Amino acid sequence: MENIKQLGGLQRRLKLLIRRLGIPQIVAICIALLLVFQFLVLPALTQQPVVLTMLMNAPEVEYWNELLVKPFEEENPGIRINILEGPNAADLVENLYTSAFILGDSPYDLIYMDVIWAPKFAAAGWLLDLSDKVTDQELQPFLDKDVEGGRYEGGLYRMPFRSDAGMLYYRKDLLAEAGYQPPETFQELVQISQDLQQKGAATWGYIWQGRQYEGLAAMFVEILEGFGGFWVNPETLEVGLDQPEAIEAIDFLRSTIEKGISPSGVTTYQEEETRRLFQSGAAVFLRNWPYVWPLANADDSAVAGKIEIKPMVHAPGQSSGACLGGWGIGISQTTAHPEEAWKAIEYFTREEAQRRVVLETGYVPSRRKLFTDPQIVAKYNYYPDLLDVVESAVLRPPIAQYVQASDILQRYLSAALTEITTPEKAMQSAANETRRLLKR
Ligand code: GLC
Repeated sequence: MENIKQLGGLQRRLKLLIRRLGIPQIVAICIALLLVFQFLVLPALTQQPVVLTMLMNAPEVEYWNELLVKPFEEENPGIRINILEGPNAADLVENLYTSAFILGDSPYDLIYMDVIWAPKFAAAGWLLDLSDKVTDQELQPFLDKDVEGGRYEGGLYRMPFRSDAGMLYYRKDLLAEAGYQPPETFQELVQISQDLQQKGAATWGYIWQGRQYEGLAAMFVEILEGFGGFWVNPETLEVGLDQPEAIEAIDFLRSTIEKGISPSGVTTYQEEETRRLFQSGAAVFLRNWPYVWPLANADDSAVAGKIEIKPMVHAPGQSSGACLGGWGIGISQTTAHPEEAWKAIEYFTREEAQRRVVLETGYVPSRRKLFTDPQIVAKYNYYPDLLDVVESAVLRPPIAQYVQASDILQRYLSAALTEITTPEKAMQSAANETRRLLKR
């Protein structure tokens, strides 16, 4: 009864409204309401976020999701970052990006790039030029070499996210007990290793990355520099692999295996295998990147609190070579969302984002200021010195043919280290093949 009364009232009011406004106005109002619904309400209700896909090496995925993607998505609800987990080795990730680009249907919007990839990717036309998105003043706080690594023929194709430099880790407890200062030369490293091994203080002396992969090239650059040699001069394209210094560098590495300072399995190790071995307490010295520091000092590490980090050893009269590593982010030429992709890069390379990552993981920032940041120095006291090491680090040749040049070096170096051939023969072939590559 009540309902019928209410319905009657509604009908009367509607009639009154129609009489007052007239049919055309009522139709116009209905159309306007429909348009508002279709173009404003409906899209807002059904809008899908923009998804940006990026591939990276497996060990980095977890901290990326936790420390970068999560807070970015909270700040930008319309954008989702989809991180795909690649293999561990940097060059295998490079292969995956390359094949996706060559096949022409790259699913990647953001490209997570090693410091040596940008020239190749830019030369192939796979990346957007970011020069007009960032001013010189905005680039100024970043390490010069990291920025340089992203330039190609006047364009900027990669924003530096984190830097890297190869270092020597050593057991300060074992050295102190035996009365040794940390070594400066290759010879001192060998001598301390042998002595401590003989005393039974450690099973192995020196652990390094000897597998045939990009890490082998990075490690070798440091030994080569320590003997005063060079790989490729990027200005003149001269190749130094068949010079006596390169042979001395290989002889040194081989001697560590022959003398039992390094296990013969070292020629199959990547960064992670060497870290685990060192972390178990089995070795006196380790060549690796700074990410090892917090892991080797964690509660579950047998060497927590017993280690120090220093620049690599060298031959008398030469200087330490740290290989410049590091990662940055670029935007794929084929992305449908360049604006959102830039927004993400801008966020991930900010000071706060980098501080969070450095404190949590020990990875090296690409912003100079963070090396003396009080919070960071309180956690990693070697950071101010690390800045000098990174700033004077040796670049792998920044040439468009880098990936092929590295592949040639890796193959011949690996053959020499595993005694398939002599260092002289291996480096003669590597040098000739590299010269042919650079002439093409
Ligand atoms: C680290 C470095 C990178 C290098 C790689 C080799 O990730 O940052 O530059 O190419 O190690 O394994």
